[in-house]
Amino acid sequence: MSDSHLITFCFLSCSILALILITFIFTRRKKPKFNLPPGQMGWPLLGETIGYLNPYPAVTLGEFMENHIARYGKIYKSNLFGGPAIVSADAGLNRFILQNDGKLFEISYPKSIRDILGKWSMLVLVGDMHKEMRNISLNFLSNAKLRTHLVKEVERHALLVINSWNNNSTFSALQEAKKFTFNFMAKRIMSLEPGNPETGQLRREYVSFMKGVVSTAPLNLPGTAYRKALKSRGAVKKIIEGKMEERNKRIQKGNASLEEDHDLLSWVMTHTNLSNEQILDLVLSLLFAGHETSSVAIALAIYFLPGCPRAIQQLREEHVEIVTSKKQTGEVELTWDDYKRMEFTHCVVNETLRLGNVVRFIHRKAIKDVHYKGYDIPCGWKVLPVVSAVHLDPALFDQPHQFNPWRWQDKNKSGSCENANVNMNLMAFGGGPRMCAGSELGKLEMAVFIHHLILNYNWELVGEDQPIAYPYVDFPKALPIKVQTHSSKHSSFSS
Ligand code: HEM
Repeated sequence: MSDSHLITFCFLSCSILALILITFIFTRRKKPKFNLPPGQMGWPLLGETIGYLNPYPAVTLGEFMENHIARYGKIYKSNLFGGPAIVSADAGLNRFILQNDGKLFEISYPKSIRDILGKWSMLVLVGDMHKEMRNISLNFLSNAKLRTHLVKEVERHALLVINSWNNNSTFSALQEAKKFTFNFMAKRIMSLEPGNPETGQLRREYVSFMKGVVSTAPLNLPGTAYRKALKSRGAVKKIIEGKMEERNKRIQKGNASLEEDHDLLSWVMTHTNLSNEQILDLVLSLLFAGHETSSVAIALAIYFLPGCPRAIQQLREEHVEIVTSKKQTGEVELTWDDYKRMEFTHCVVNETLRLGNVVRFIHRKAIKDVHYKGYDIPCGWKVLPVVSAVHLDPALFDQPHQFNPWRWQDKNKSGSCENANVNMNLMAFGGGPRMCAGSELGKLEMAVFIHHLILNYNWELVGEDQPIAYPYVDFPKALPIKVQTHSSKHSSFSS
């Protein structure tokens, strides 16, 4: 072998050895260092997203969840919404995720949702900006405000809707519930009155916006719901900006009306330095979070109750008693104290939220490597606490598929709805630092609507509708019902 061959041979051998060494080091580094839960990652890119989003009856967990829990247990890995994910049907892990928001986990919506809700939407913000927006919303929805004037306003809007029904008429209960919650929010946010053409226009644009938010294929292509929704977002923005201009002119002239000072728009314009874009996103996120959820929850109560005549009877007794005692003192409008007395109604509200699961799972991602019960959740992975899986877990709720409001009664304090064991596992409003800012208002809206419904009508379901999880919950036929005026009208009608 010549010298030049020897040099070439040595060079090649060294290169091959170096390559082997580098490959060895690289593969050792890439070797999974995590003890991941069991599960499967599905197809490249798509993962298992299509199966996960496949619609199913909302009072069940759906085939995908049921099969995955049966196969892998309550904590499993998957590939969802474009990335690796840990799915949790475990009550303890769900609580842990929600409580550690901002420390170990943070909110993480798919980009399509972020784009449409807006970058300043409270639902997608993190850190200090989220805190600022949250504080504004909490101030707007504070318990003190609920007590002093929101009960009255909620009742007024419930009555406007319920009083418009005719005996023996058939209509969509879901649309009526949406009218109620939308009108209430539009009034609270911008002092828009029901029936006002601007309120109608805002509602139409908002409905189109919503269709895009919940569309399962969020493609920004001509003709898609998503594209239309982006257009409606622009239209809603124009309406809000118009309102802001009007206010500014009136403030400059020194004649802003007192009533408008109580709405959210005036408050943010005078007490914060938020930009127009930030105010728009705040208004949209409050309309979205506070209108769709509580209207679907009310529709779910209307859907569940006819299947449980004993609950209707007990509700009627509770509400007749409240109205009768109010008549003795000459009071007409509902008060916060009346609301607090609706103990069985609170049980019905809890049970509706548990079985109906308006929000089924919550979007988070790990911002650190997290270790939980022997499993690792790697930093950057999506984490999906599935609250519906906790609510329908037979280990936590006896006969979980049955509508049973009495399960919420505290066995020690007869009649009161404070059963601590079951309360701990009710996650309908999430939990931790991002827990629903409108949970009290949502429950109040449900209770007040039930109060007037139960006092004034009997109703039956027509058209065989049922709630479906898309995964957002909807009634494909918008829940048609037929109402009959209740013979012993005991209402505190005051509209
Ligand atoms: C029955 C009705 C309702 C249900 C089931 C519900 C459920 C939820 C859930 C599960 C979350 C947590 C989301 C997360 O952790 O990422 C949430 C957040 C929120 N909800 Fe509700 N909600 C309801 C009614 C309302 C109402 C009436 C409002 C009033 C405007 C409202 C305003 C909000 C806001 C602003 C947030 C965001 C909180 C934050 O990110 O800090 N919700 N809601």
